[in-house]
Amino acid sequence: MILKNIGQLTSYNPDSGEVETTSNTSLTIDGDRIAENSNGEAIDCGGSLVTPGFVDPHTHSVFLDSREEEFALRLSGVSYEEIAAQGGGINASINGVRNASKEELIKRVSKRMDRFLKQGTTTVECKTGYGLDTKSELKSLQVIHEVNESHEIDIIPTFLGAHAFPPEFADEHEGYVDLLCAEMIPAVAEQGIAVFCDVFCENGYFNVDQSRRIFKTAKNHGLTPRLHADEFEDSGAAELAAEVGAVSADHLMAVSTAGLEKMAEYGVTATLLPGTTFFLGKDTYAPARKLLEKGIDVALATDFNPGSCQIQSMPFIISLACIHLGMTVEEAFASATYYSAKTLNLEGEVGSIAIGRKADLIIWDVEMLMNIPYNVTDMSIKMVIKNGKAIDL
Ligand code: NIG
Ligand code: FE
Repeated sequence: MILKNIGQLTSYNPDSGEVETTSNTSLTIDGDRIAENSNGEAIDCGGSLVTPGFVDPHTHSVFLDSREEEFALRLSGVSYEEIAAQGGGINASINGVRNASKEELIKRVSKRMDRFLKQGTTTVECKTGYGLDTKSELKSLQVIHEVNESHEIDIIPTFLGAHAFPPEFADEHEGYVDLLCAEMIPAVAEQGIAVFCDVFCENGYFNVDQSRRIFKTAKNHGLTPRLHADEFEDSGAAELAAEVGAVSADHLMAVSTAGLEKMAEYGVTATLLPGTTFFLGKDTYAPARKLLEKGIDVALATDFNPGSCQIQSMPFIISLACIHLGMTVEEAFASATYYSAKTLNLEGEVGSIAIGRKADLIIWDVEMLMNIPYNVTDMSIKMVIKNGKAIDL
């Protein structure tokens, strides 16, 4: 396939460290890769913008039902933390996943993947974390695996058994950590689907000592650490991310200066989730400028989940990053493509346009990069190309 009549071809170039734009150009695709030559059909881009597909490196897509009632409660002034303390939050989604058949979950997750792809996301990380027992966590990973096989989108699976303490361990937190380390992580490794292990390291959830133990076990079983760090309060999670060699520390709304310094020293990427701050109606956005000034790589993600963020659109996340995180359009774009791929160890495959990379592309209905944040919720996507094939949106 040849994309002709591209008005602007825009991609982050890791060699120059810049977002680069080539005007009035064409792009050649051979099979599923960007190539030098091809003799396939030509697609006329009509002078529009072409970019890489988005990489969304933080989502909680494996759940059964949405939780509108919590949104209503928040509108009446109850906070996310209060709702969680009253039995809502993550625990409200456990029975759904535990009681659902694998087939039902596959149906739900596939639909969510359709919506990601429609909005230009061509690679998405999906966490488990609503089963919270061995059987239901393995089932969730199996769901991710089967949807990944049948759906055009590429899914990267993360085991998040340490998302919350399930009700049967409400008064016995160490017992759940024992179960995670002695039974769940070995079973997940044996199953062979999960690539990463995530922990919700936060006051009221998993403390630093518990998180450290879980990551040690995960690493011994070949799983790479990434974590939910300092979302509502600083608990030293960013420092732990550096200590355990996590590929990414996510959220960081309440990160300390000491935490930032450790992340910079150890090269931990910060994955920022401004959609969650926005959706929860908070104004405590993560200190993106401080992170960037320290030389920390910043990635962006949706955090799509039934409780704290229903957003699936990376273009909207870019708008939020520009408006609320103080990022430039180029920074936000690089964070939603190249750096988000980097936190999944996939920057050689996706997230930028170069010969040999996957042909995962967006043909936009706009002419330049600035229109992505500027148009906010306008779906300005003409065509999504995944693995070299035009997707029926
Ligand atoms: O990233 N912080 C932890 N987990 C999710 C919330 C999940 C839920 O409420 O269901 C988050 O915000
Ligand atoms: Fe999350």
